[in-house]
Amino acid sequence: MGQHTLDPEDWGSFRDSAHKLLDAAIDKMKSNKEGRVWNPLPENMKEKLQVDLPSSGLDHEALRTKLAEMLPYGVGNTHPRFFGWVHGAGNPGSVFAEIASSAMNANLGGRDHGGIYVEKQVIEWSRQMMGFPEGASGLLVSGTSMATIIACKVARDSRLGSQCRENGVGNVPLVGYVSQQAHSCIARAFDLLGLGSGALRKIPCHSDFSMDIDALQKAIAEDRSQGFEPFFVVGTAGSVNVGAIDDLDALAELAKAENLWLHVDGAFGATAILSKTVRTRLSGLERADSLAFDFHKWLHVNYDAGCVLIRSKEKHLQSFSGRAEYLTGVNKGLAAGDLWPVDLGPELSRGFRALKVWSHILEHGVDKLGACIDENCRQAAYLGEKVEQADQLELLAPVSLNIVCFRFLADDHSDLDTLNREIVIELQERGIAAPSTTFLEGKLAIRVNITNHRTELHDLDLLLTEVQNIGNELAG
Ligand SMILES: Cc1ncc(COP(=O)(O)O)c(C=O)c1O
Repeated sequence: MGQHTLDPEDWGSFRDSAHKLLDAAIDKMKSNKEGRVWNPLPENMKEKLQVDLPSSGLDHEALRTKLAEMLPYGVGNTHPRFFGWVHGAGNPGSVFAEIASSAMNANLGGRDHGGIYVEKQVIEWSRQMMGFPEGASGLLVSGTSMATIIACKVARDSRLGSQCRENGVGNVPLVGYVSQQAHSCIARAFDLLGLGSGALRKIPCHSDFSMDIDALQKAIAEDRSQGFEPFFVVGTAGSVNVGAIDDLDALAELAKAENLWLHVDGAFGATAILSKTVRTRLSGLERADSLAFDFHKWLHVNYDAGCVLIRSKEKHLQSFSGRAEYLTGVNKGLAAGDLWPVDLGPELSRGFRALKVWSHILEHGVDKLGACIDENCRQAAYLGEKVEQADQLELLAPVSLNIVCFRFLADDHSDLDTLNREIVIELQERGIAAPSTTFLEGKLAIRVNITNHRTELHDLDLLLTEVQNIGNELAG
């Protein structure tokens, strides 16, 4: 009996099946604008997935068929009328990089190989894009949630001193601040880092949903007077509910005066720095101590790809460096390289997500990526105006960026929250569009987030027509 290997026995048939699968994938991507937005996985497919742990394998042709069968059953975010949460629309070009990175199977935890240099370049581009100073450091991560954990840890360790890595956080009563509209990943980071989500104060917002800086100032003073130790403040550049941008310059001033670490959550909004129209509203972002943002949202790199930038490389290293003996670096050979990604984050084994980000930026260039963002903002403004013109619709928040929150009104309907939730479910289930919902000042809103380079104005017209048709149908 020959040696066991997982390589194909017949490379010719492997190649044929791989080419067929690539063709199916390209056909799927080419028709991204067609058909239903969301296809729920049919019952028979769910059943087919439930098989006992296979003891023997399939040939590549059978495997190709199974994989091709899955192609229609994504979240729907490749469709122009996907408006839910904050999902990027992806782009066909990512397939190029994903084929190459799959063939390489590189581990980006460290060592001296091509991928490390690609990731360094992506971090350098990110630094330039966001206006961070030369020498700032950063890391590619799964998304803003992970980026936030890393940034909070560097901030925490920088305040407590790196001995807290060994001794724990002790009982220093550290507290931080976010706006009431900030994303839940920040409280989760506080929880994970042993600070407790209760140590994150939620500051009220103005009517445009940006943080009330006076209220923040008062909360800090109040905390200090009660013996707490303020150390951290988060500015949101593009809030998840409505796309509000906090006054980042004011926050940078206040952070300096109060000796706080300024972190910016720019999950999708920070990338609007590439847009001609939004750019100036992000002033102050470049003064942050750390920034979390995603390539997979408004820049449409295929999932997943996020980034954390840290102004002080020294502090970043102090928070994560320290390798085990078997990972000791040397000057030459494969274990060389001055800085390994494992020195900057919690993961030792890391995929080569840098390749798809790098090739995406090379393929499109940042001007085009910025123009797509501008287009989405124009579309959101258009949608907001249409909502205001419609008698049966109520706009629930000013349109700041790319998100429109509104609801359907029915005179004789007492429970508008339930009605609007049902409208959204019907839109999704009928395959027409996929907005999501949120609550604003106690009212359930139909939330239309446009981070989608495939959306056109007629998609928005159709959405509004269908919201009203379904609303009347359900209310009637
Ligand atoms: C403002 C904001 N912050 C953080 C996140 C979390 O990002 P991720 O899903 O990439 O972890 C999101 C996700 O939508 C967001 O909109």
